[in-house]
Amino acid sequence: MKQQEFKRRRKALMRQIGHGNIALIASASSQIRNRDVEYPFRQDSDFYYLTGFNEADALAVFIPGREQGEYILFCREFDPTKALWEGAHAGLEGATEHFEADDAFPIDDLDDILPGMLENKAKVFYPMGRDSVLDHKLLEWINHIRKQSRSGVNAPGELVSLEHILHEMRLFKSAAELKLMRIAAKVSAAAHIRAMQMCKAGLYEYQIEGEIVHEFYRHGLRHVAYPSIVAGGANACVLHYTENKDKLKKGDLLLIDAGVECDHYAADITRTFPVSGKFSPAQKQLYQLVLDAQAAALEQIQPGLPWNQAHDASVEVLTRGLVKLGLLSGNVKTLIKNEKYKQFYMHRIGHWLGMDVHDVGDYKVDNHWRELEPGMVLTVEPGLYIPADCQSVEEKWRGIGIRIEDDVVVTKNGHDVLTADVPKTIEEIEQLMQAT
Ligand code: GLY
Ligand code: MN
Ligand code: MN
Repeated sequence: MKQQEFKRRRKALMRQIGHGNIALIASASSQIRNRDVEYPFRQDSDFYYLTGFNEADALAVFIPGREQGEYILFCREFDPTKALWEGAHAGLEGATEHFEADDAFPIDDLDDILPGMLENKAKVFYPMGRDSVLDHKLLEWINHIRKQSRSGVNAPGELVSLEHILHEMRLFKSAAELKLMRIAAKVSAAAHIRAMQMCKAGLYEYQIEGEIVHEFYRHGLRHVAYPSIVAGGANACVLHYTENKDKLKKGDLLLIDAGVECDHYAADITRTFPVSGKFSPAQKQLYQLVLDAQAAALEQIQPGLPWNQAHDASVEVLTRGLVKLGLLSGNVKTLIKNEKYKQFYMHRIGHWLGMDVHDVGDYKVDNHWRELEPGMVLTVEPGLYIPADCQSVEEKWRGIGIRIEDDVVVTKNGHDVLTADVPKTIEEIEQLMQAT
C-alpha cells in the first residue's frame, strides 16, 4: 500500500475531527508466548489503517491545524543492538522519512510531551475502553493539565469514541484496498482448490490444513486471517472447530473454512466437498439446498437493498427446502416466524470483511438495517448443520455440516464475487476432484 493512501486517510480523518481537537491511537503491543518467545505480531487494524506503521510501542497523534505538523508519531528510538537481535525498526528518522510523520518523538517521552499537546483542546477522540493502559494514562494526563488551570490552560472537556468515524471510513473500501483483497481472495481460492485436489480418505484434517498453509506461503502470504477450520464429517457441525485432528473418512464431507491476509486485508472462504470426490444422494440434496440459498442471498447483494435482505432470502430458501426434504414439517411461513430453521442454520448470512475478518462498521443505522452501498465488502455464507445425534430427522441426514462462503464487493450495478475461482457446483467439484 502506498504512503499516499495512508496520507489520504489521515486527511479525511482530520477533516472530521476538526480544528481545536485531537485524536490518539495506539499500536498493538507484542504478546509474550513464553519466556523469550513472542506471538507473531499483528498490528492493530485501526492504527495500521492510518499509519502503515507495523511496529509495537507506538502512538499516533492527530492535531488538525497544528502549525508544526498535524501528524505526530511516538515510537521506539533506533537501537543498534535491537536491530541486531530482532531486525529493522524505523526509529524517529524512519518515522518522519518513510512514514511521513510531521514530527516523531521517543515513546519513552510520552508522559512528558503528550500533556502539552492536549492543552486547550476541546475534544479527545480515541478508541475508548480498548486499551486500559491508554485509558488510564489519558485520564492522568488530563488531570495533570487540570492542576495547571490557574496558569490559564484548559484541559479537554470531552472524550469521544474515535471508532465511530474511523470504522465508517473502513467500511468503504478504496481501489487500493480492493486490490489487496482481490489478492487475498485469489490466493485463498487457490488454497481451497489445492485442498480439493489433495484430499483423500485416510489423510488427517491437519494434513489438509498443511496443504492450505503451503499454498498461502507459496504466494508469500504468511498470515492466516483466522485459524483454519478443516472439519471432516460431523466435525463440520461444530461451527468453530479448529482442532483439525481427525482422520478423513470415505463417504464423509469435508468442510474447510480458511482464508489468508494480504498486507492486513482478509479473505474468508468456505467450501464443503466429499472426501472421496463423489457426493452421496443425501449429501447432494442438502448441498444443493445450501447452494440455492447462497444464490438467492447473492441476488440481494445490490446497492440500495438493506443488509438483512440477503439473510432473509437464505432463511426462506433453506426453510422451504428443509420442509421438502422432510427435516422440518409444517407451514413454511410459520416455521420461519418461529425460527424453527435455527436448529440447523444458527448463524447469520455473513459479515463485513476487510482488515479484520469480522470487520468493523455498523449493521444498523437509526435502528434500521443499513442499505448496501458500493465499496462495502461482505461475506455470503449460508449453512446447514445437522447434529449427529439429531433424533428428529432421518438417519441419512445426521452428522452432515455444509457451509458455502464467498466474499463479495458491492458495486455500482450489483456485486462482484471476489472468490469465484473456487468451484462450488456439485458437477464442478466432482469433476475437479476426479481429475486428480
Ligand atoms: N471464518 C469465520 C467466519 O466465516 O465468519
Ligand atoms: Mn465468514
Ligand atoms: Mn469463514
